Amino acid sequence: ELPYAEPYKIKMVESIKRSTKNQRLKWIIKANYNLFNLSSENVFIDLLTDSGTGAMSDKQWAEMMIGDESYAGSSSFLKLKKVVKKITGYKYFLPTHQGRAAENVLFSALIKEGDIVPGNSHFDTTKGHIEFRKATAVDCTIDEAFDTSIIHPFKGNVDIDKLENVFKQHPKEKIPFVVLTITCNSAGGQPVSIKNIKEVSLLCKQYEIPLYFDAARFAENAYFIKKREKGYEDKTIKQIVKEVFSYGDGMTISAKKDGLVNMGGFIALNNKKVFKQATVFNIMFEGFITYGGMNGRDMGALAVGLNESTEFNYLESRVEQVAYLGQKLVDYGVPVQQPFGGHAIFLDANKFVPTIPREEFRAQALAVELYVVGGIRGVEIGTVLADRDPVTRENRYPELELVRLAIPRRTYTNNHMDYIAASLKNIYDSRNKAKNGYIITDEAPIMRHFTVKFDKI
Ligand code: F0G
Repeated sequence: ELPYAEPYKIKMVESIKRSTKNQRLKWIIKANYNLFNLSSENVFIDLLTDSGTGAMSDKQWAEMMIGDESYAGSSSFLKLKKVVKKITGYKYFLPTHQGRAAENVLFSALIKEGDIVPGNSHFDTTKGHIEFRKATAVDCTIDEAFDTSIIHPFKGNVDIDKLENVFKQHPKEKIPFVVLTITCNSAGGQPVSIKNIKEVSLLCKQYEIPLYFDAARFAENAYFIKKREKGYEDKTIKQIVKEVFSYGDGMTISAKKDGLVNMGGFIALNNKKVFKQATVFNIMFEGFITYGGMNGRDMGALAVGLNESTEFNYLESRVEQVAYLGQKLVDYGVPVQQPFGGHAIFLDANKFVPTIPREEFRAQALAVELYVVGGIRGVEIGTVLADRDPVTRENRYPELELVRLAIPRRTYTNNHMDYIAASLKNIYDSRNKAKNGYIITDEAPIMRHFTVKFDKI
């Protein structure tokens, strides 16, 4: 059998800069040990996020030239609207400038103070937008998600009993909707099965509670369903996507992931009343309803991106590149979350550096070390990201302390993956020397991870 090769060739390249360990030490001190504060020029391989960092295709770039920048009724908007309808099946559509803007608009219409919003490990902006409205996000993810060594094909699944308990404990007026994140970023880019989606949908119908998707990585989720779920192996990605969305009432999406664009997002839904309410907030926060904070050219590129990301050949090269890195790390003995996520590999810092106390942000310490050793920028998904409890103001210690290595779409080659794996092997081989972590010297009251400052202990 012939080896696998990417279903694309490279048409344009961007230089990236190598640096020395001493230079990087200087830069990270200046950044107060917060990787968000680094200048990207000083990063060799940037795995901070897969959000807005992918490469567009020639066909997407072609759309950039024919974008219609009309304030109202832009043809690029109409093009996007048609594709959104075709791919999601939802009737109504509102563009927004990115995912959290879609959350802001939809949640303004749906959430009141004191409400409960259950889901599967809500992403931090989602949780932020819930808590900002003095409502509570309740995590109903299955327990298997929190043990990185358990192999389970759908670790993003909702525990139906946990969800039903929430429904029983609170009147339905207090639960404006359930949010299902596909794939589940905070649980490690893990997929949700179509069986689970159906069960959640049925339970929601039984209790008369709407179901919305946080669909940032909906195409990768569909790829996993096709690969892992019985009865779906012969369906196309587009068929699976359509079926998944048919079980919900609507969605918010950050188009910067599976939309294959650098900026953008939208809301799509079926309920006319909610659409009308959301429209008011969209105009207030984002812009007129036929652009919602997006350029015409970006809406055109998104229309093409949604079609490309729901093609099997693209998804195979994307998800399998992530798995290629994961497998190299496993071969080196490095503890990573398994099965591998769709958009990222997650290092298990609890197993990697148990010698650093949790109170000293061990996952952050590992992320900083990876930068110093290899010029590679990952991101902490642990105690720093989990932030403080809004009531007690104590640090929240999540079950997992992870470092996420998010792989941008169509951007790096497998040589880069080899380099990343070799850098981590070096760190892993000397891990027992790591004793001290960091203390926080400055932090914001909400979503602290972006601007937090540390000192080395
Ligand atoms: N939902 C999920 C599941 C996400 O992963 C993100 C963003 C958002 C919503 C918010 O979208 O950034 O366009 O406003 N995730 C990025 C990440 C930031 O790095 O995982 P946004």
